[in-house]
Amino acid sequence: MPKIAEILSEQFEGKEVEIAGWIYRTRSSGSLVFVVLRDSSGIVQVTVNKEDVPEEDFLAAEKALVESSVIVSGAVAGDDRAPGGFEIRAKSFRVIGFADKYPITKDQSTEFLLDKRHLWIRSRKMTNMMKVRSTVFGAIHDFFRNNGYYEVQAPILTPAMVEGGSTLFKVDYYEKEVYLAQSWQLYAEAMVMALEKIYCIAPSFRAEKFRTTRHLTEYWHAEMEIAWAGMDECIEEGEKLISHICLQVAEKNRSELEALGRDPEYLESQVPPFPRMKYDKAVKMLQKQGMDIEWGKDLRTLEERALMGEFDKPLIVTHYPKDIMAFYKPRDPEDPKVALCFDFIAPETGDEIIGGSERDADIEELKKSLEREGEDVSNYEWYLDTRRYGSVQHSGFGVGIDRVVQWICGLQHIRDAVPFPRTVARYYP
Ligand code: 4AD
Ligand code: MG
Repeated sequence: MPKIAEILSEQFEGKEVEIAGWIYRTRSSGSLVFVVLRDSSGIVQVTVNKEDVPEEDFLAAEKALVESSVIVSGAVAGDDRAPGGFEIRAKSFRVIGFADKYPITKDQSTEFLLDKRHLWIRSRKMTNMMKVRSTVFGAIHDFFRNNGYYEVQAPILTPAMVEGGSTLFKVDYYEKEVYLAQSWQLYAEAMVMALEKIYCIAPSFRAEKFRTTRHLTEYWHAEMEIAWAGMDECIEEGEKLISHICLQVAEKNRSELEALGRDPEYLESQVPPFPRMKYDKAVKMLQKQGMDIEWGKDLRTLEERALMGEFDKPLIVTHYPKDIMAFYKPRDPEDPKVALCFDFIAPETGDEIIGGSERDADIEELKKSLEREGEDVSNYEWYLDTRRYGSVQHSGFGVGIDRVVQWICGLQHIRDAVPFPRTVARYYP
């Protein structure tokens, strides 16, 4: 059975086809019913003429409401008034599942559409986003696999934090407490000593406190770790990965991008090198713009957005103050106030899409940093072992995939980059 997008071409004109889909719009006038049918590939108009179909088919076509599922057969005919320039003149119109009155109509509130998310995902907007999202996931896999990385998996139920205790989700584990993973990283640092170049795509969990347009509580995280490599090599891998994702979407999703109001050329222009800036310079720039920021404070949304100003490729900010960074980020030997770490900030959204660093090899420094964060060092003994048995320089990063999809699709809110978002305010449906 062909897909709708395939039959919208001169090649099919005059030919008999059978297609399956859902009713997108319908109206009838006397002995004619005009139905617009959608499938995963697109929409097409179907005309059902009382004279050309069995009587029960005509009655079914008249009765079937929006979102009823149907199988139609008939000839393809050119018609300038039809969307896509072709229509199907039905010879049979079989309703597979009659729909109740569809609750989603025009001009409904954001909250209502979120409550009806299980139905709203059928909309053109969500369908286009999900197709782009599929390409993004595929591009991440093929980038890493084609560059010598092994895919590995890490546990989701974990005994300790990675990115700070304040955003941990607790889980009752046979009367003990464990946490949902914030990152695969500690396990990656163990596995990288076996496989040297590794990656994974998995959900990460953060009990975020704030409602923003960039935070989910469950998000999809692509992470990589490489041995025998420092920060610069890691940054270059990040640039190549982001570029590969953008180019793949530009190539494979032209019509979806157009429908989302996105210019494929913009994505094609996302090629390395990306601009870089040290945290020091970023703070000075922001202060010059009159912003109230002191050296030693992390960059907030407002500052990241201000920083992006003129950049039309991701901005890589490096060397953040050591004292505000996660415990595993090492001091820069050339400037001990700062850490060997980096963030990629996306243009337009101004959101951090990648966070990464070199990893500290110094056990005493690691212990001190863990204590500073109020952690019980004994929970990390296994991790410290990775430094005791032939440790080597290694680095890695994590990509917030939903944020990348949000940026690529030009979406206002991160929840529209995921089919079923989990946010501070929402876990239903
Ligand atoms: O910067 P983060 O916290 O870094 C890590 O988790 C490292 N352990 C990664 C590593 O080196 N292996 O998170 C990485 C990225 C961020 O840059 C951001 O894009 C995304 O994950 N992210 C979120 N995305 C959506 N919702 C949230 N609440 C997010 N928190 C982080
Ligand atoms: Mg970060």
